[in-house]
Order: sequence, then structure tokens, then C-alpha cells
Amino acid sequence: MSRRIAVLVSGRGSNLQALLDAIKAGTLSADLVGVLSDRPDAPALQKVPEALRWSADAKSFPDRLAFDQALADAVAACHPDWVICAGYMRILGDDFIERFRGRLLNIHPSLLPKYRGLRTHARALAAGDVEHGASVHFVVPELDAGTVLAQVVIPVLPGDTPESLAVRLLPHEHALLTASVALAISGRLTEQDSHPFCDGQPLLKPLALDSSGNLFPSP
Ligand code: GAR
Repeated sequence: MSRRIAVLVSGRGSNLQALLDAIKAGTLSADLVGVLSDRPDAPALQKVPEALRWSADAKSFPDRLAFDQALADAVAACHPDWVICAGYMRILGDDFIERFRGRLLNIHPSLLPKYRGLRTHARALAAGDVEHGASVHFVVPELDAGTVLAQVVIPVLPGDTPESLAVRLLPHEHALLTASVALAISGRLTEQDSHPFCDGQPLLKPLALDSSGNLFPSP
């Protein structure tokens, strides 16, 4: 059965495009019911028909809470089964997270728990890491701290810059997000006492992505 997904975006939208491509190719059995943004000028919004778009400039709201409430109401109006943050760069408030908790995922460009927040590629290089990657995690009130569902790992190469690392990581992010959303909507992910389970087993370690784009339990 096709499940309903809403996607939050702030920028260029290449991860959103990966989801759209997978839906079109039939590899992701999802119904995209809304694309929502805190940036009315986000190029990502242009990737979907106007009827699916919602955006508002947070600065036009009296305070942060009011924007969050409006965003949450707009998401709820789409009746999504899952809400996916795909390059959504504004911190979500606790009320928003509670409303969609357990069905709210984010893609983050680091091997969490390393490098929560911004400038992840530069921080991995500065630390001398030999591996870098991306994570899809459940969103909880603490920034980038929710259970990690899945990760993809790439090598750091000699001469890498933050920009080259970001460019090399991006297609792997797309595969990771698509596979993670497919898993999320498959019904194989459940939650008990606020802890995620996959195929009935507690998700103690992130799943890993193989070169064919499939997720498997990491050894
Ligand atoms: C992606 O690299 C995503 O991992 C990152 O923003 C980029 C969005 O690109 N997200 C974060 O940093 C969230 N903290 P896109 O707009 O082309 O999908």
C-alpha cells in the first residue's frame, strides 16, 4: 500500500528530487502529499506542482512558536504517515516534534553522533577523519540526537576539501534517504516505549547501505 509522505525543505532540493525520481521509477511506493518550506524562495519548491507547496517566511510570524504552529498545522493538513526533513535547515520546536514524533525523519551529512549541527564536512576534515558519511535519524527535541536509522560511509580522500567531500557524499545521501524512506513506509519499523524496532528487533545500531542501495544490519 502506498503511504503518504510530506517533505520539509529549505534549499536546493536534491534529496527531494531523489525521492521524486524513486517514486516515478516505482522503487518507492510513496504518495508525496506536501512539500513545505521555511523559505518561500527555496528552489526545492519548484520541483513539485503548486498544489503540493506550502511555504512561509518565519520572519513574518510574531515569534518562533507561531511559525512552528503554522508549519505543524500545514503538515497535519496533508495527513502524512511520515514526515521527512530533506535539507530542512530550521530547528524544529518541541511541540512540532512531539506532534509527529516516531514518524519524523531527518537526513544529516555526518556519521552521527559525530558532528551534529552545521559545517559537518569541514569538521570531519579538521578532525583528520578517514571516513565520512551521512545519517538518517529520528528527530527528537535535542538537535541531531535521535536514534540513527541508517548510515552510509565514504572514504575521505587525500586533498579533499569540504566542497569535494560534500559533492562526493551527495549521491550516497540520495540513495540512503530513498532506502530509509522505503523502509520507514514499509511497516517494518515500529516504536515501543519510544524506542525504534526494525523487523521486531530493537534498532541498536544504524543499518548500513550497500552499493546496490539496500539497507542491511551492520555487523
Ligand atoms: C544535504 O546535504 C542534507 O544532508 C543537509 O542539507 C543538504 C540539503 O541538500 N542537511 C542538513 O545539513 C541538516 N542539518 P538538498 O537541498 O540538495 O537536498
